[in-house]
Amino acid sequence: MPSPIISVSDVRKSYGRGQNRFDALRGVSFDIAEGESVAIIGKSGSGKSTLMHTLALLDAPTSGTIALEGVDTRTLTGGRLNRTRNRTFGFVFQQFFLTANASVLENVILPMKIAGVGRAERKRRGMAALEQLDLADKAKNKAVNLSGGQKQRAVIARALVNNPRIIFADEPTGNLDSNTGAIVEDILFGLNRENGITLIIVTHDEDLAARCDRRLVIRDGVLVEDSRPNDPDASTTSAPHGRHGSPEVAA
Ligand SMILES: Nc1ncnc2c1ncn2[C@@H]1O[C@H](COP(=O)(O)OP(=O)(O)O)[C@@H](O)[C@H]1O
Ligand SMILES: [Mg+2]
Repeated sequence: MPSPIISVSDVRKSYGRGQNRFDALRGVSFDIAEGESVAIIGKSGSGKSTLMHTLALLDAPTSGTIALEGVDTRTLTGGRLNRTRNRTFGFVFQQFFLTANASVLENVILPMKIAGVGRAERKRRGMAALEQLDLADKAKNKAVNLSGGQKQRAVIARALVNNPRIIFADEPTGNLDSNTGAIVEDILFGLNRENGITLIIVTHDEDLAARCDRRLVIRDGVLVEDSRPNDPDASTTSAPHGRHGSPEVAA
């Protein structure tokens, strides 16, 4: 067995302090194997985005460990942390949307600029990604003028330009009509199947979740279900046994 691409061990995350402290993650543990597609599901406020942000190294846990290919990510600081994030991850997040008045190509090449890729190479890889997403003819358009589905495809193109190992998506189809959402889903699962990119998707959408290899259900900051509904050989559920979770919600 190869070591997991991500290993999460008793991760806790609290916001605020004293009387205002809120425990958004209360001891979450699981591993993700490279190439898996994982849905993170749960009600609004259950801690999905908090978990995603800690997995993506955008925010540090209050306690617990996140290892990336066996490396404790607490040892990654400053420039090394930024480089790791930039090279290893692609982001499909609403809050990292496109810069409205920049061109589609300029938006897509941004992660390569950050990574220090040269101008000619940026353009070559940016156009290749846009072609892959069927958006090459929109390269020079301002991002603001794209339709919702085109914007989301541009976000995916941008997530791809540094050849990420993992794509993190937070409600990737949330603002799209069902046809356009299906196209965006097909693109993400195509990248998973054909390029072996690990997908980690936060979603409310049960149909999208059902396409993933694995379901992680979060309730009140605790992992209450970890299942592989499409794999007849896998054990269906391995909810934590309250070792880390609080008994009042684990029940
Ligand atoms: N920066 C923050 N400061 C204080 N509380 C926060 C902050 N971010 C999230 N929370 C709280 O943590 C809980 C989990 O939030 P979040 O992870 O965004 O949930 P989800 O994505 O499942 O809707 C919510 O109760 C939310 O209000
Ligand atoms: Mg959220």
